[in-house]
Amino acid sequence: MKAYQVKRYGKKEKLHLTTMAEPVVKENDVLVQIHSAGVNLLDSKIRDGEFKIFLPYKTPFVLGHDVAGVVTKVGSGVSKFKVGDEVYSRPADFRIGTFAEFISVNEKDVAMKPKNISMEEAASIPLVGLTVWQALVEKANLKKGQKVFIQAGSGGVGTFAIQFAKHLGATVATTTSAANIALVKSLGADVVIDYKKDDFETELKDYDVVLNSQDKKSLEKSLRILKPAGKVISISGPPDVDFAKQINVNWFLKMVMKFLSAGIKKKAKRLGVNFSFLFMRSEGEQLTQITKLIEAGVIKPVMDKVFPFEQTNEAMAYVEAGRAKGKVVVKVK
Ligand SMILES: NC(=O)c1ccc[n+]([C@@H]2O[C@H](COP(=O)([O-])OP(=O)(O)OC[C@H]3O[C@@H](n4cnc5c(N)ncnc54)[C@H](OP(=O)(O)O)[C@@H]3O)[C@@H](O)[C@H]2O)c1
Repeated sequence: MKAYQVKRYGKKEKLHLTTMAEPVVKENDVLVQIHSAGVNLLDSKIRDGEFKIFLPYKTPFVLGHDVAGVVTKVGSGVSKFKVGDEVYSRPADFRIGTFAEFISVNEKDVAMKPKNISMEEAASIPLVGLTVWQALVEKANLKKGQKVFIQAGSGGVGTFAIQFAKHLGATVATTTSAANIALVKSLGADVVIDYKKDDFETELKDYDVVLNSQDKKSLEKSLRILKPAGKVISISGPPDVDFAKQINVNWFLKMVMKFLSAGIKKKAKRLGVNFSFLFMRSEGEQLTQITKLIEAGVIKPVMDKVFPFEQTNEAMAYVEAGRAKGKVVVKVK
């Protein structure tokens, strides 16, 4: 099969198109013929070597974290899927590799693709959808009537998060630049702040939850717009001890993560609010819930651009430029 590999870590490194053997299908795996693969900033960060410390992929390896496609083979222990099923997934860490023609995924990380959307749209969902679910449901326990501030409402995470938070019954504030104000309003945002003109810290107060996806300054400001016992869930760092436990790293790395998040934890404590870091994980059960929401029309994929497979490097460069409105996808088949 054809696949795009990282051969060397580095910011300027391009993925290499290679021909390689189809992946091995283990007992609980399904082999998916990839129709589309979603592109995420995580792909670039891994290629750059930024995440090497806790995701030490050994080169060469195939990149890509989101897939939609058709099951072409199942392992002997697979019970939920059969050949011919249209599925989507965010494969688990260390099992990634969706910039390819085939991928083998553990069935626990797979869900049936929503019937009412295309393969390209489906490939745009798993990583951002699961991120938002784990941030707003698992970590924040966001409830009807609460106020949530979602940074960067026009991005991949933001476009999903606004729709999902509205579904949960929350009041949603978001930031974006002038060109995307209409987009975030159409997704349901109640309060929209043009981050180039206005400062969200002076506009927002007494929030229950913030989904932080921007820099350190935004994170610190986010603490100050919360009501007492409010929560900031940060998906852009710094990693904390709970995350170290989640990925089961050694004592040294645990101490590194404790150190990295000590400052922000202390600031949060002083203000009587909570900080936690989230690094999303694959989860077929949650993705199945997301399928239901998409089929019910509660959440609609927001697509910026679809690139042909041959332009996977260009697709990554487009996402890295930081101006995507919703999601970018590579069409493989
Ligand atoms: N920890 C995790 O599990 C996890 C999971 C998913 C994503 N992430 C991280 O979360 C971040 C966001 O991911 P994403 O996929 O949503 O990114 P994305 O789609 O590439 O974000 C692009 C969007 O961000 C907006 N934007 C840029 N700077 C902004 C600012 N200062 N304020 C408000 N909006 C701004 C842009 O709007 P304008 O063009 O209008 O500026 C654009 O629409 C990334 O750092 C990503 O790595 C982490």
